[in-house]
Amino acid sequence: MLFLKPKDLEPAVKLGDTVLSSFGILGKLIYDFPIPDGKDIEIYELTFPSPLIGASFKSESDILDIWLRMGLGGVIFKTVMKEKRIGNARPRLQDARIHGEKGLLNSLGLPGPGIANFINDIVHSALWEYSRPLGISIGGDTVNEYVENIDQVQTVLQHHTLPYFYEVNISCPNTENGQTICEDPATLNSLLCAVKKTVSNPISIKVSPDVSNETLSAIGEICATYDTILINAGNTQYKTPDEVGVKQINFAMNGGGLSGPAIFQRTLEMVSLFAQFNIPIMATGGISTIHHVQALKEAGASLFGMATALVLDPYCIPRIHSRL
Ligand SMILES: Cc1cc2nc3c(=O)[nH]c(=O)nc-3n(C[C@H](O)[C@H](O)[C@H](O)COP(=O)(O)O)c2cc1C
Repeated sequence: MLFLKPKDLEPAVKLGDTVLSSFGILGKLIYDFPIPDGKDIEIYELTFPSPLIGASFKSESDILDIWLRMGLGGVIFKTVMKEKRIGNARPRLQDARIHGEKGLLNSLGLPGPGIANFINDIVHSALWEYSRPLGISIGGDTVNEYVENIDQVQTVLQHHTLPYFYEVNISCPNTENGQTICEDPATLNSLLCAVKKTVSNPISIKVSPDVSNETLSAIGEICATYDTILINAGNTQYKTPDEVGVKQINFAMNGGGLSGPAIFQRTLEMVSLFAQFNIPIMATGGISTIHHVQALKEAGASLFGMATALVLDPYCIPRIHSRL
């Protein structure tokens, strides 16, 4: 209102990030929490000291660093595409509310530096010093683009002994072709077949809560035929601004991805569905409490990805740890 512009949450988030990363030596008191002993999870050759993982949605190192200090067992970088992108028109991030629960509606549209710049940055990233697994989330407009992006990262990272895995993001609701592969298991099969020729690192397949259970089952069956695959169930749920209490004037796109506690039930349902395939499962979507983690663990998940909870209240990390 102040600037006679539609409301936009992005500047507030950026300001918050700047404040969070400006505490200098005081940060030791505010951010440093130990991970309790004995919570290690081994997935293929990777050891996650805590099962709580930063889901793919941020790439700023100083913010990822804070969450690792607070106790995350690993983080996944924001999805990177081949070319540099500015993403969708703004406003594209808003507070959302559905069934009385708070969340976020975003249609960022995968803004990012492009794969070449991303590789230059991560190869020297200070985050490797934590020796916790880092996930490299790859997007693409075509199967070839995914394969080429992974090849480019692999060409550089394979010469370093770093704990990393790939995440293939086939579930972005905010780009033109973001969900195409998730809706077409046969294409996912071609993609995995091509990538597996050169990559032995674990690969997480991030699926969408918006596709049918039948399609998810077909994806589970395909993933079970490959080595070192894990399933990440899942991503944001597509909603119109109207459905989540956001005025259309405050959202440039006709719809976006809802995140936060309101999507938890679907995450639980997806984990239960994938449990039959005997593949490690990461659960992502609506997690913020020990109760969420316990329910998902009972359903078959080993890792728990969080995004919105880290924005709304990152102290949920030590809180969950204290009861894990
Ligand atoms: C602002 C924002 C940006 C996101 N960007 C990505 C992304 O680049 N790649 C991806 O796989 N998921 C992305 N996500 C989805 C999250 O990783 C996560 O799957 C989703 O938010 C559900 O988890 P949550 O309820 O804990 O937030 C994004 C989510 C938000 C809120």
